Amino acid sequence: MFLVFMMLLVPLTACGSSSKSSGDVKKYTVATDSNFKPFEYLNPITGELEGFDIDIIKEIAKRAEFEVEFETMDFDGLLAGMQSGRYPIGVAGMSITEKRKESIDFSIPYYDSGLILMVPENSNIQSIDDVSRKKIGSRQGSTSQTYLKEFTSAKVEAFPEIVTAYLDVKEGRLDGALYDLPNVKNYIATEGENKLKTVGEVLQGESYGIAFSKGSEIVDDANKALQSMIDDGTYAELFEKYFGEPPADKWLGKEH
Ligand code: ARG
Repeated sequence: MFLVFMMLLVPLTACGSSSKSSGDVKKYTVATDSNFKPFEYLNPITGELEGFDIDIIKEIAKRAEFEVEFETMDFDGLLAGMQSGRYPIGVAGMSITEKRKESIDFSIPYYDSGLILMVPENSNIQSIDDVSRKKIGSRQGSTSQTYLKEFTSAKVEAFPEIVTAYLDVKEGRLDGALYDLPNVKNYIATEGENKLKTVGEVLQGESYGIAFSKGSEIVDDANKALQSMIDDGTYAELFEKYFGEPPADKWLGKEH
């Protein structure tokens, strides 16, 4: 009789302890960048780290019951840090690529992106086919740098910060820049009106994933949390907050 009672007690206690003391909750360092609008950037007034990526990972952490602490760095440093297993989590508009998958575990995709060419408003470059021997800027370690090197004969100039390339295009020191569509669009809208434009098609569709150190135990829970955010419309809300329009149907969740 006593034994039966004991056995009953065990699962009961386990259920009752859902409000874990904060000492039980694991805290993970999240490596991120601070210069990739609107995914991650510093609010100019408060100095706080903000953006779509930041909100997404915070919400995932809440749902999967872990805590996060952000550490900002250059994207190429972040990439190297993720590849060497230095950081457990990285979120930086990172495109999921076969090569990166060899050393990094990715979440399910959370954003569909692609590369676009940006040129001065008065440029006669009409598409990526016109960049031979032209000076085209990019960011070190990014998929656009790889694209330029592999598929074009442009003179590639890769910078530690993409905004340096953007500024150089604006001021005529570069003929163009190739980078992620949402970031290029954001820059043109905020700093390049009447001075810069995009040309040609979106090159190379890419999906962003949250990066985890290889073999990470968090991936499954993070994926479940992310999927639940898509399903219940939280993802769509965050998307609209940062992009000013609803996401494509596939991200709209089950209620729609
Ligand atoms: N999506 C591109 C890549 O993965 C560029 C990402 C840049 N992200 C950043 N936070 N600077 O290579």
